[in-house]
Amino acid sequence: MTEPITCSNQRWYPSFHVAAPGGWINDPNGLSFFNARYHAFYQHHPYSPQWGPMHWGHASSEDLAHWTNEPIALAPGESGDDDADGIWSGSAIEHEGKLFAFYTGNRWVNGQDDGDGKYQAQMLATSSDGIHFEKYGTVVPAVAADARDPKVFEHDGRFYMTIGADVDGRGQVLLYSSADLYTWEEEGTLFEDPDPNVFMIECPDFFPLGDKWVLVYGPMVKQPVRTGYFLRNGHNAGYVVGDWSPGERFVPDTSYRPADWGHHFYAPQSFTAPDGRRIMIGWMGEFAHALASQEDGWSGQLAVPRELSLNDDLTISSSPAREISTRFGEPNTESHALQANEKIEAGSFGPAMITVRIDTEKEVPLQVPTCEQVELEFTQGNQAPTRLVLDTQALRAHFIYGAGNGAGRGYRSAPWTPGEQLVILVDQGSFEIFIGDGTNTLSSLDQSGEGARSLAVTAVNGPADVTVSIAELA
Ligand code: FRU
Repeated sequence: MTEPITCSNQRWYPSFHVAAPGGWINDPNGLSFFNARYHAFYQHHPYSPQWGPMHWGHASSEDLAHWTNEPIALAPGESGDDDADGIWSGSAIEHEGKLFAFYTGNRWVNGQDDGDGKYQAQMLATSSDGIHFEKYGTVVPAVAADARDPKVFEHDGRFYMTIGADVDGRGQVLLYSSADLYTWEEEGTLFEDPDPNVFMIECPDFFPLGDKWVLVYGPMVKQPVRTGYFLRNGHNAGYVVGDWSPGERFVPDTSYRPADWGHHFYAPQSFTAPDGRRIMIGWMGEFAHALASQEDGWSGQLAVPRELSLNDDLTISSSPAREISTRFGEPNTESHALQANEKIEAGSFGPAMITVRIDTEKEVPLQVPTCEQVELEFTQGNQAPTRLVLDTQALRAHFIYGAGNGAGRGYRSAPWTPGEQLVILVDQGSFEIFIGDGTNTLSSLDQSGEGARSLAVTAVNGPADVTVSIAELA
C-alpha cells in the first residue's frame, strides 16, 4: 500500500453523485449537517477498486447538490487496536459543538482475514471541524461475531444506538442508550426479523417519520429468494413502519417493503437536515459481481440525497432533494401523440434529469388494442439499449439491461400505474428512477456504453401520448 489510486477513465465516473477520487466505496456513513456543511462519509478502500481494509472517505456540501471531496477522515488503527483491520460503517451526531462519529472497529482474530473469526466493537471518534478526527476508542465491546453499524440518534433527551446483529442465527437490531455518548447501557433487542431465513441485519437506521417510527435495514439471508420481483440482489435494503417508545421493543405495523427496486441501492442511511427534512442516501455498488468501472480504478457511488415522507398507507415516498434540480439547466420539453408501434427519437443528452409523462388512456375503437407497453430505449453508440418498459398489463416499470453491467445483467421491476410520471436521473454510469410520488424508486448502475445517450420512445400495440422533458447538467 502506497498512494491512494485515482480514477483513470471518466467514462462512467459520476458528474453529480458523490464518489471517491478512486478506489472502492460502499455504505454511506456519518451523514450529518455540521459546521454549516453537509457531510457524507463512506466506506472506502483508497488503495484498490476492491473492498479491503475500510477507511471513512469524506465529501462535504453546502447544499446537498454540489459536493467537494475532503481528506480521508478515518483510517484503520495499529495492530492490536479494535479497529486494526478496518473502520466499518456507522453514523455521526453533533453534541456540544463536536461531531461524534460512531463506527464498527473491525479486527480479524488471526490478524489477517475472517478465517478464525472477527471482532466487531463499536467505537467513537470526535471532531471539532468535521474534517479531522481524534479517536476515543471502544464504547461498546463486541457482543457477537457479527454485530455492527452503530446508528446513533437522540430522542427525548437521551441518546440511542442501534446495532445490526446475528444473534444465534437470527437477524436482530440491538439497542443501547447513553446520557453522554461515552458510556452506553444495553437496552436489549429492539427488533427481530420474523423471517428465519434472515440470519443477520446490516446497517439498521431507526428514525421517526410523521407520527411513526421507521426501521430501515439490510437483511442477510441464508437462502436466496428465487421468486418475485423483490430481494433479487446480493444485498437488498427495505423498511418496516411501526411504533416505538423508549424501554419497549419496536412494534411494526407493516411487512418489509423495498427501499428501492433497482440493482444497486444498499445500506441507505438518513439524517435530519437543519430545516427538518429527513434525507436518505444509499450506496450504488456491488459486492456480488465485478463492476466494469473497476478497470478504471474505481467502484461505487452514492445515490443522490432523497427527501422522505410517510404516506397514509405507511409506505414511504422519496424524491430527489429539491436542491438537486439546481444542477440542471432549463428543460427541453416535447410532446408526441404516438400511434400504435410508432417510435420517436426524444433527444440525446449527457448527464440529465428527465421527466416522462405518459397517457395511455386514449380512446380507441373497441376492436383495436390499447397500448400494452411504452418502451423507453436509452442507447449509447452501438450498444444494445438499456430499456425502461412501462407495462400497462403488469402495472410495472421494468428496467432491463441491454449490454450488461460488468458481470451483472438481468432486469429489475417496480410497481407503476398508468398516469404516474417518471423522474429519471441519468449520470454517466447510473439511472435513478422516481415513479409517481416516489413511493417506488429503481436505482441501477449502467456501465456499458460510453458518451451521450439517445432516447427513443415506442408505444407498443396501441397509441400513447408522451411528453418528455430533458434538463441537462448545467
Ligand atoms: C454493509 C457492510 C456493513 C459493514 C460494511 C463493511 O454493506 O457489510 O455491515 O459495516 O459493509 O464495509
